[in-house]
Amino acid sequence: MAHSLLLLPGDGIGPEVMAEARRLVEWCTEATNLHFTIEEDLVGGAAYDAHGVSISDQAMAKAQAADAVLLGAVGGPKWDGVEYDVRPEAGLLRLRKELGLFANLRPAICYPALADASSLKKDLIDGLDILIVRELTGGVYFGEPKEITDIGNGQKRAVDTQVYDTYEIERISRVAFELARARAGRVCSSEKRNVMKTGVLWHEVVSRVHAEHYADVALDHVLADNCAMQLVRNPKQFDVIVTDNLFGDVLSDIAAMLTGSLGMLPSASLGETDEKTGRRRALYEPVHGSAPDIAGRGLANPIAMVASFAMALRYSFDAGDIAGRIETAISRVLDDGLRTADIMEQGARQVSTADMGTAILDAL
Ligand code: IPM
Ligand code: MG
Repeated sequence: MAHSLLLLPGDGIGPEVMAEARRLVEWCTEATNLHFTIEEDLVGGAAYDAHGVSISDQAMAKAQAADAVLLGAVGGPKWDGVEYDVRPEAGLLRLRKELGLFANLRPAICYPALADASSLKKDLIDGLDILIVRELTGGVYFGEPKEITDIGNGQKRAVDTQVYDTYEIERISRVAFELARARAGRVCSSEKRNVMKTGVLWHEVVSRVHAEHYADVALDHVLADNCAMQLVRNPKQFDVIVTDNLFGDVLSDIAAMLTGSLGMLPSASLGETDEKTGRRRALYEPVHGSAPDIAGRGLANPIAMVASFAMALRYSFDAGDIAGRIETAISRVLDDGLRTADIMEQGARQVSTADMGTAILDAL
């Protein structure tokens, strides 16, 4: 039986990096026992230009039906002036919310060949392997009210609302503890309980879930600002970090940059597993953005997109073996000295987006 994939290339470098992932999907269908059917649709500014919305209802229906969604990137200065509700990012947020993708996994792994590309000293990041587990469908991203009101005297008031219910914190902590069990067995929970009520509840619920079900995993709590500082001071102290939507957005960018390039890192966004079907909605996307400044010039690094497909193989299609082969192929190509522009260094050979994709396929 073939699995169904929906590709949403999006904006900027999205289509270029997606083209390389697509070749990997086709390789899977030809060379392995995993077969995929592919559909494609628009998201972000591309969808706005075609339909006046950041994702159409038809594309949403395809996303609901697919076994997994691969997304490139959304956004760009071209759409700076469009209405807030239809800005490119809204398409991504609608996908996350309506597919119920509450668990965002963002690994920050340092490939040995790239240890010199980090802005930190090599020994601090050599062998780095962190997993950030970010809550993705709650918190200040979606809390109501979210508005700007006129309060007179030439003054306006802007409000965003940070809300968390117990069940949201429970389910994201379970994901973090389960993943830690298959890794180094350590979870660090990050919030601001010294200032925020959501932080107080977060701390309480994570501690209870831990005590009741995961006492074999080591749990630490760290305030989010301290966590940011510790990430640049001594990142290798962390194994799994679990945190809310907004802190996770910030902390995952820091963790990603430690590895040398945002262009390297994949992510998975997962929903709850359906008890009856065993099915779990999922979307895979690079951590990097749409990089409109370099779009269309063959300069983009396709590795994060390709590695996102590898994550799909692991988390949606139970094919960790093929995922591992793709990740080994990426490492091999880097060891061979091939670099896209973003990770170019002296003595290496600079290649285009498509050449990097070809090299990974050849290594496979
Ligand atoms: C991310 C991005 C998004 C976010 C934007 C594009 C809405 O920064 O996936 O980290 O803030 O979640
Ligand atoms: Mg972000």
